[in-house]
Amino acid sequence: MVRWFKPFVFLACLIPLARLGWKAYAGLLGANPIEVITHSTGDWLLIFLLVTLAVTPLRKLTGQLWLIRYRRMFGLFAFFYGVLHFLTYIWLDKFFDLHEMLADIAKRRFITVGLAGFVLLIPLALTSTKGWIRRLGGRRWQNLHRLIYLSAIAGVIHYYWLVKADVRKPLQYAFVLALLLGYRLWVWAWPKLRLREKSSPLATREEASGS
Ligand code: HEM
Repeated sequence: MVRWFKPFVFLACLIPLARLGWKAYAGLLGANPIEVITHSTGDWLLIFLLVTLAVTPLRKLTGQLWLIRYRRMFGLFAFFYGVLHFLTYIWLDKFFDLHEMLADIAKRRFITVGLAGFVLLIPLALTSTKGWIRRLGGRRWQNLHRLIYLSAIAGVIHYYWLVKADVRKPLQYAFVLALLLGYRLWVWAWPKLRLREKSSPLATREEASGS
């Protein structure tokens, strides 16, 4: 079932790009096409980051173990839209003018933090294969891939800093990200809290007295 379904999911992930391509072809990108492309690729980059982060909680909460088979694909699509977003900036927006880009990075803090978020995704994309999991070992690979948390946080800050007035959309993304990271924090902290509770002198005394 997963094997059959995967090509459909893959094609569905390409719809935002196809839509953008169609709009460009039909001349529907409006007065500022670069802005439309930057916004669309940025949006989809962030959406795919959040979808990737949602796979593990969804799998655990619903017991649908097959969901994990899509995580790598979603993560790689996040990187793919990230590359398009970055290319739009360095190619269409800045025409590879390194001087202007460096000035921009230094001057506009939302560019600096966005760049950091994108750079963090590069080692994750490069080590996403089974061969790299084997080479690094499961534990080290997992620790490295936790960089996705920082990348998503940088992405949300980037968006929050770049909007001028209406911060509702970046705040919605921030809320979803907080839920996804909060779930992980809870899963990590809960057994430790329980253990501490159980081994506290008060609990031991209460257990001994049978109360
Ligand atoms: C994890 C990395 C990143 C994420 C998640 C991200 C996400 C976004 C999002 C969601 C938007 C706004 C889309 C909208 O308005 O609907 C955006 C806009 C933008 N991003 Fe990124 N981005 C990232 C990295 C970068 C990088 C590396 C650059 C360039 C070096 C960049 C340059 C821009 C620019 C120039 C805009 C438009 C700003 C404006 O309208 O004034 N972003 N990005």
